[in-house]
Amino acid sequence: MAGLNVNLIQKLLFIFLLCGFVCQSHSQASSSSRITRDLAYSESAENVILKNDKLQLMIGKPGAGGGSVQSMVYRRDGLRDLELLDMKQRPRARGYWDLHWESGSYISGNDFNYKFRFGNKGGVQWTDFYGDGAGGDQMVGITVKQETSSHTSRHNRAPLSTQVHYAVREGLSGTYCSLLVDHSSNHRPMQLTELRLVLKLNPELFDYSYVADNRQRFMPTRMDLSKNRSESLAFKEARMLTRPKNESLMYEVDHKYQFSVESKDGIMYGWISSKEKIGVWIISPNKWEYLGGGPYKQDLTVQTGPNLLAMLHSAHYGTPPIKLEESEKWNKVYGPFLVYVNQAEDINGLIEDAKARAALETASWPYSWVPFEEYRKPEGRGTVTGRAVKLDPHLSGSATWIGLTDAKSPTSDWEEEVKGHQFWNVTNSDGEFTIYNVNPGTYLLQTMVQGFLVDSSVLQLVTVQEGEVSNIGDIILRPKRKGPILWEIGQPDRSAGEFLVPSGVKDGFRQYGMWDKYSELYPVADPVYVVGESEWKKDWFFAHVIRPNGTPTEREIQFFLEDVVPGDYTLRLAIAGAHKAALEIRINDPTGPAIYDTGAFGRDNALARAGIHGHYEEFTISFSHMNFRLGMNSLFLRQRKTQNRFSYVMYDYIRLEEPMMFSHSWMSTSR
Ligand SMILES: *[C@@H]1O[C@H](CO)[C@@H](O)[C@H](O)[C@H]1NC(C)=O
Ligand SMILES: *[C@@H]1O[C@H](CO)[C@@H](O)[C@H](O)[C@H]1NC(C)=O
Ligand SMILES: *[C@@H]1O[C@H](CO)[C@@H](O)[C@H](O)[C@H]1NC(C)=O
Repeated sequence: MAGLNVNLIQKLLFIFLLCGFVCQSHSQASSSSRITRDLAYSESAENVILKNDKLQLMIGKPGAGGGSVQSMVYRRDGLRDLELLDMKQRPRARGYWDLHWESGSYISGNDFNYKFRFGNKGGVQWTDFYGDGAGGDQMVGITVKQETSSHTSRHNRAPLSTQVHYAVREGLSGTYCSLLVDHSSNHRPMQLTELRLVLKLNPELFDYSYVADNRQRFMPTRMDLSKNRSESLAFKEARMLTRPKNESLMYEVDHKYQFSVESKDGIMYGWISSKEKIGVWIISPNKWEYLGGGPYKQDLTVQTGPNLLAMLHSAHYGTPPIKLEESEKWNKVYGPFLVYVNQAEDINGLIEDAKARAALETASWPYSWVPFEEYRKPEGRGTVTGRAVKLDPHLSGSATWIGLTDAKSPTSDWEEEVKGHQFWNVTNSDGEFTIYNVNPGTYLLQTMVQGFLVDSSVLQLVTVQEGEVSNIGDIILRPKRKGPILWEIGQPDRSAGEFLVPSGVKDGFRQYGMWDKYSELYPVADPVYVVGESEWKKDWFFAHVIRPNGTPTEREIQFFLEDVVPGDYTLRLAIAGAHKAALEIRINDPTGPAIYDTGAFGRDNALARAGIHGHYEEFTISFSHMNFRLGMNSLFLRQRKTQNRFSYVMYDYIRLEEPMMFSHSWMSTSR
């Protein structure tokens, strides 16, 4: 009852505020010739409408599709209004939030994999909307709240409470979207595997996508993917176009993973109508803050449909699910991100304008108007500064990322950290860094250096306080190294991009079917990599795959030893990605028993999903000098797991170190 009363009071208050807007705009309109303030909220039996002079947004009310965006009308200057969503879809399926989850008893496999769309199954409580004048800008917003009753046994409803928020700002053609998810004391255990907003755009309009300057194109249509216009390929999402509407797309392959981006790069992406010269964009500054998995996390963006996706959490590319125990208290705010609409003279004009908007949004992050208490306002955040000092003078040029991850998290691996917020920045060329707008809390300091294996075995804690600058001084970046380097293949940067990717185009790893290229290049025998003669760019195929007939392939690395030094040699395998793999290692005896086996590892499927990396890991393996001999030696890496067509290993970097002797100075060698 109390809740209801509060609701009523808030509603009345809003009507009062709304009256304020209307009266104000009337008085302004009559007193000056300025553009009339045009920000409105209205309600019908089934919907709520939020609008300004550029955009009109219709949000579903409780019942079917509560909280979903059911219409988005772009109100253009001097031109006819355009509906941006696909009105042929049912209202609740045009712009919906959904989540995929597994129940707490989930062990492995897909036995309990549930999907649900917010607002589909009742249980939606209508809370209020607000109008505020933050920063002198008028905004109108609405929050849609969904509560799940405590121990419901229904599997179509996740044990989580959600609040979706939309806000429209005066004069801005777009809507800010954010989401608060909350798991509390009466909720069952669960694992959250995916969380996203899907906008199904008007197929009459949108035909061109932009993900990056070198990744923009005319797109197939949804019809092009139908059975009589395309052929199925090696995995279910991939199809080859055989009768595309636009004939120039003939024989191209389409799948949504071709459009994946890393969090650090994917601040802005979208769809364009080449005919109407309009664009719809998702702009999400600092999204690694909430996305989980850090700046290298890859996720989906646009998809043939035309669909525009805002991925907020996903297991794609090896990111773990968010695991929540029985009654565990946890909440997280995702976003806000901006769904931005623009118009320009041509495609480039649209892209440039969206970039300018993205820069403005980045500069205004964090926003001061977000209604969730859990979202820290700018003045409630702190700053961390310091300097990263590399012990190795050869490496001063390579990019260094400094990050902060939640110290309460059970993992110190930032790619695995998904529950808390993460804060990152890159250093300048002197190693100095400042991470602004950090939520108060205690963090683990993270470092990631391109071209350098950093010893992060000693984890430093950093405490951040509201409104304060924490100067943590010098962080010494120590190389991870036990002895002098005998040889190395590749460069440590969490990517296999420096290796042989046989394709005529830039970023050829995104081309369909790269897993079969190895057997085309080396149909009979596996190539031998000879240290000192071979070049990794030409002679090291970027993925250690299996052959199409299911036989394993083997990498042989030959190297010459002038000396066998007593003690342990160290092999470092930095893995950029792997899927259902296991490596056997042999030295000098290719047919004998393996002297080391990594055991099964990898679950990122990045090879099939057009990635050049997935989930990073390192193996550090010691071998007694007894395994080696004077003169030529061979190291064999065999990928023994062959059940899955897409089993693979992508090496980031491989290195052999000699046992440490005092006469050697490893400081003088690179990396
Ligand atoms: C192709 O399939 C679609 C449905 O998938 C159908 O609507 C259409 O009529 C078919 N066209 C032809 C030429 O068979
Ligand atoms: C078809 O795609 C090509 C580029 O692949 C583009 O130049 C052309 O304008 C498109 N045609 C139509 C009708 O959209
Ligand atoms: C990263 O550092 C640059 C330069 O100091 C600064 O302009 C930018 O705001 C910083 N970004 C974050 C997220 O702190």
